[in-house]
Amino acid sequence: ALQITLAIIKPDAVAHPLISEAIHQKILDQQFIVVRSKELIWRRDDSERFYAEHKGRFFYQRLVEFMSSGPMRAYILARENAISHWRELMGPTKTYRARYLSPESIRGKYGLTDTRNTTHGSDSLDSAEREIAFFFPEFNKKCWYEMD
Ligand code: CMP
Repeated sequence: ALQITLAIIKPDAVAHPLISEAIHQKILDQQFIVVRSKELIWRRDDSERFYAEHKGRFFYQRLVEFMSSGPMRAYILARENAISHWRELMGPTKTYRARYLSPESIRGKYGLTDTRNTTHGSDSLDSAEREIAFFFPEFNKKCWYEMD
């Protein structure tokens, strides 16, 4: 089905223009339509709210700090099976797994650590809806979701 998803190019990748440009080019090459995009910097509490489900896990503090450490780029991407397709392009969350299992994936090529792993993508229809509203509260999701 035609779907929308929320994708982030994280601060580690945005800090390297050649890498963020390569990721952006991949988005276009893979026939995603960029419905919205913006560059922004999170405050610490934005980071804490977005990743609230990970609160208490050993990587939570470093994740929250990293994600509010510098500019990132958020996208609403549309495509057939956008959610799973973007996740497949990113590759596994953990960099060592991505390098081993999926060396051509975005994280396999550019991931630095399990935290500094270049990109994020919504993992379900529900999380896409929540995450799109988090970044783009003005986006009129009613227009979109009534299409299917
Ligand atoms: P993301 O897809 O944004 O979702 C949660 C994030 O937590 C993940 O990518 C990583 O940036 C970060 N993270 C750090 N360590 C781990 C870990 N061991 N397992 C899962 N996620 C981790």
